[in-house]
Amino acid sequence: MIQLRKISKTFERPGERALHVLKGVDFNVEQGEFVAIVGPSGSGKTTLMNILGLLDRPDSGDYQLLGSQVSAMSATELAKTRNATIGFVFQQFHLLPRVTATENVELPLVYSDARDTVKKAVNALCRVGLEERLSHFPSELSGGQQQRVAIARALVNDPEVILADEPTGNLDQESGQQVMDLFLELNRAGSTILFITHDQKIADQASRVVRIDNGCLTASLN
Ligand SMILES: Nc1ncnc2c1ncn2[C@@H]1O[C@H](COP(=O)(O)OP(=O)(O)O)[C@@H](O)[C@H]1O
Ligand SMILES: [Mg+2]
Repeated sequence: MIQLRKISKTFERPGERALHVLKGVDFNVEQGEFVAIVGPSGSGKTTLMNILGLLDRPDSGDYQLLGSQVSAMSATELAKTRNATIGFVFQQFHLLPRVTATENVELPLVYSDARDTVKKAVNALCRVGLEERLSHFPSELSGGQQQRVAIARALVNDPEVILADEPTGNLDQESGQQVMDLFLELNRAGSTILFITHDQKIADQASRVVRIDNGCLTASLN
């Protein structure tokens, strides 16, 4: 499903030494996998996730997503592919504060030609166990519930892959584990999931763990 070859990324800022964040990363993900990416802060995890999620381009290397060559895509094609293929979950939920849970989940559908958007949003919220919180605003939900709304939003387009950047990073242990249980359930139902975490206990639940260190990926068996 995902094939990265020799992906490199360097950040250059005026007056500063160039920062080689990714140094020839090779990485494959098969359909249906549940992969954790771990590594110290600043090691390039988010940079890698942004490239995987078509939010940023590598300086060099080859990225094939579902058989398509990503480097050949125009900005419009990237955006289209991103919306149709990838669901994102972030550490800081990133929900719109002034609209309900249902309207937050409907949002990705607004950018596609989808019909029955409310019904689809409600279905996604049921999948994450929030059928009783449909018209709540984010401020009326706990952190764990807000993250589950964000997961419903990631699911609503029926993506090929879910990318999550420290999805439990802002949650206490119990709600963090509930979010993990939900990811495990979605994975068993067929979703391919890639997530970044600092938490070894969380990483241990993945079927595969890769470590990023000093710009290079190493596999660690689980
Ligand atoms: N847009 C950017 N411009 C310059 N430096 C950046 C940029 N994004 C990230 N970095 C730097 O690249 C390194 C890796 O960042 P990041 O991928 O966010 O690490 P992680 O998610 O593993 O903590 C950090 O040193 C960070 O400061
Ligand atoms: Mg990060």
